[in-house]
Amino acid sequence: MTTNSDKAVAKEMVDIMHRPDGDPKLRPIHTNGIGVTGFFKASETAAEYSNSEPFQGNKIPVTIRFSNASGNKTRHDGWSDIRGMATRFHLNGPQDFDLIAMTLQEFFTPDVPSTLEFLKAARPTPYHSATPLQKIRDYLSLKVPKRNRYPHEDLSPDDGGKKYANKHKFAQLPIFQTASIGAPVSYARAAYHAVHTFIITAPNGKRNWVRFTWQPVAGVRPRPIGPDNKPDDDYLNQEIRDRLSDRETARFTLMMSLGEQEDEVNNCTKPWPLHRTRIVMGMLTLNHVLDAKAQESKIEKMSYNPCLLPEGIEPSDDPILHIRRTAYEISSKERHANRCPFAGGQ
Ligand code: HEM
Repeated sequence: MTTNSDKAVAKEMVDIMHRPDGDPKLRPIHTNGIGVTGFFKASETAAEYSNSEPFQGNKIPVTIRFSNASGNKTRHDGWSDIRGMATRFHLNGPQDFDLIAMTLQEFFTPDVPSTLEFLKAARPTPYHSATPLQKIRDYLSLKVPKRNRYPHEDLSPDDGGKKYANKHKFAQLPIFQTASIGAPVSYARAAYHAVHTFIITAPNGKRNWVRFTWQPVAGVRPRPIGPDNKPDDDYLNQEIRDRLSDRETARFTLMMSLGEQEDEVNNCTKPWPLHRTRIVMGMLTLNHVLDAKAQESKIEKMSYNPCLLPEGIEPSDDPILHIRRTAYEISSKERHANRCPFAGGQ
């Protein structure tokens, strides 16, 4: 049940996310993206763990939007940034399934008050380059030295976040990883994590607490840092177009980790240990990049929502997952996108 106070907080979050170099008619974050279609087919094992439609082995059409996380309206594919992968499984049931994932393995904050505080603290600020002396001081005091400014980079996305991380231990891992995350050579050469815990039900009624990750079949490959890296280009869009032309495909396996007793299920700042049992739930095959007209009329007007789940997949009680439901709904309405799946709902 969404309360008026949830709506007020979610609205405040969306307002803060809009950057001065953004565009109110576009998404406040993950502003630049590209739409790709294909299909998902579950593995034979998947149906043993889940009675939900995506995991019964049928070929399910999908629409994916890959994105750069920045809210800057200008594309900068070579800039260091988190990347997003939003997947809609088009199902026969009453409700589709959206699985929204990013290249970071955990989120910055564990609850709603800390998220609001973090978003305010991490607002982009005018860029101040570090002097060579400052960089040496940073090295000597074991601090991550500030990276060089990209051409045309007027706002710094990291400074406020780093100050926040100095005061809040839970935010240190994601903030420091983000500051040095770099850029992938391709949207199809990165792993994407859905971060939250979901609950799935097996045919025998057993419920499992799980987390999902897309693993690229071609392997993870970051772009080398150096003179070859032209920061201002839009190579990621061109690369996926080239890759999927001539009947080529890009593939991802959907990996599902099974939570154990001691794992934090409602705290998305805490990644689960790497040695948790992982089940291969299926294979995603991408084979078509939508044309420019469909990008404009379909993909840029789409409203994904992390709480759009089919029967048999439930949200955990993670407060970040629940506030996202309302935040995405508000953002979609404000940018006049196609109706959010929950618009007019609770
Ligand atoms: C409280 C935490 C969060 C808030 C308030 C938030 C808010 C938003 C908003 C307002 C949008 C634009 C939605 C639209 O206009 O359609 C968005 C997009 C997006 N977010 Fe989040 N987000 C949060 C956490 C996360 C997390 C944990 C992930 C990754 C698991 C994530 C991944 C994405 C992606 C990939 C998109 C782009 C979706 C698309 O392509 O349409 N966000 N977020």
